[in-house]
Amino acid sequence: MSTNKESWGSRVGLVLAMAGNAVGLGNFLRFPVQAIQNGGGAFIIPYLVCFLLMGIPLLLVEWSMGRYGGKFGHHSTPFIVDAMDKRPFWKYIGVFGIFTNLAVAAYYCYLESWTLAYIWHSLTGTFHGMGSSEVASFFGQYVDVSSSTTGIPYEAVIFWLLCLALNTYFLSRGLQGGVEKVAKVAMPLLILFGIFLVIQAISIKAGQNGAINNGTAGLNFLWTPDFSSIWSPKVWLAAAGQIFFTLSVGMGSIQCYASYLKAKDDIALNAMSAGWMNEFVEVVLGSSILIPIAVGYLGIDTVVEMTKNGGLGLGFRTLPYLFEQWGPTLAALSGMFWFGLLFFAGITSSLAMGTPFVGFLQDEFNWNRERAAWLFGLVILLMGAPTVFFFEYGVFDEYDFWAGTFSLVVFAFAEIVLFAWVFGMEKGWAEINSGADIKIPYVYKYIIKYITPLLLGAVFFSSLPNVWNQITNKTIYEQIAVAKAANDVQKLSFLEDSILFVNGSRILLLLTYLGVALLVAIAYRKRMQKNTLL
Ligand code: ALA
Repeated sequence: MSTNKESWGSRVGLVLAMAGNAVGLGNFLRFPVQAIQNGGGAFIIPYLVCFLLMGIPLLLVEWSMGRYGGKFGHHSTPFIVDAMDKRPFWKYIGVFGIFTNLAVAAYYCYLESWTLAYIWHSLTGTFHGMGSSEVASFFGQYVDVSSSTTGIPYEAVIFWLLCLALNTYFLSRGLQGGVEKVAKVAMPLLILFGIFLVIQAISIKAGQNGAINNGTAGLNFLWTPDFSSIWSPKVWLAAAGQIFFTLSVGMGSIQCYASYLKAKDDIALNAMSAGWMNEFVEVVLGSSILIPIAVGYLGIDTVVEMTKNGGLGLGFRTLPYLFEQWGPTLAALSGMFWFGLLFFAGITSSLAMGTPFVGFLQDEFNWNRERAAWLFGLVILLMGAPTVFFFEYGVFDEYDFWAGTFSLVVFAFAEIVLFAWVFGMEKGWAEINSGADIKIPYVYKYIIKYITPLLLGAVFFSSLPNVWNQITNKTIYEQIAVAKAANDVQKLSFLEDSILFVNGSRILLLLTYLGVALLVAIAYRKRMQKNTLL
């Protein structure tokens, strides 16, 4: 039995921490870009449908799995799923709930660290007087770790280490002393910063300070429904992927947080509060900053073009330049609020990613919180290093594909089958409703049993061609063919190196999965031996 006796300090703290887990960089950077790439108003309908038919059911399932496992003293998914069905293979599927968090945290913390650096540069006026291309190339130099943007050598590495240290420190302070305290400060500030930026964005007037559109042009682009997308599998896949990422479902962190609830605590209202708070932040705040500002100054076509090859660019390459159009004081303030908001969004999510591994070590190996948190920091340092040093070779994107996209779908699919069909929907529905402070519509019993697994299966199977393209490095080989035709030797050698680094990062991810599985096997043997001795 676990000696881990931590619990949440208050209901507000729990809901804010859970909302903080969900509200992340995905809400402000990934969502707007997905929406732009998938046709604006064409994206919103599939997105909302996916929220209702996959997001809410998975939230309810994960919260109840977590609270159920917590009753037996389990705080990580391998043993939470073991409590639900004793067949040994479930434990190894449960490994996803630790692996995914480690692998996502590894690249996510690097992204989070950029926000710290950009707060610093916004406040010290680095972007003041720079042209748009200079601001854009500043980012390129920044992620080229060995080059120096402002005279600080290895600046990106320094901010990354700082960010890892902050995460590790807050994790080591425990659930109430670290995670909950951070959430109580970060979430309200994030919303305040967001409201300030939304007001700025929607007050943009065409013809003033170089704007070509009103701030509302971007909002119209997003909120004018376009039913043409209903038949596009690509848009549905993007919408489902965004729902998983933004809600942090299929990850293992919700189950872990919920495992610290008491057996009689409500989950229905708590899950809905955290889930809807995330949607408020995403669709109201997340859609009203980046898109209106970018469309206001650059126009829809340019913005669509700019996000074709990913969207981090807009938030870091373009926005600091656009803030400068508002004059030095507002630029510094807006930069601080934008990157500050991103930092708060990021850290409340990365702390949630650390908690399953820490909980696992506490439960199974009797480690204390601090030691476990520092080991998490070390693992993230080692796993994250390739994303930092080989960023431009595509290692960061490779982690995002396997851990931040594919693993979420696989684990979500497995857990809904376990919950609805193996554990059983009657028991499952009773779990969801036990202690509930609100009545969940009865129709969700059927949605969880039939619709969500079917949709998840459809998402899984229709993503297989993408998975195949990823495994065979299709995009890189296409680029190699172009470079060969153009006789571009330098590009060719870069692309060949990319294949090496990308394949290497896959091996690292696989070894991490196997490493966690081995720890789970050892922990299971220890448990069995103890049971035999008793
Ligand atoms: N849910 C987190 C985000 O949106 C991971 O960034």
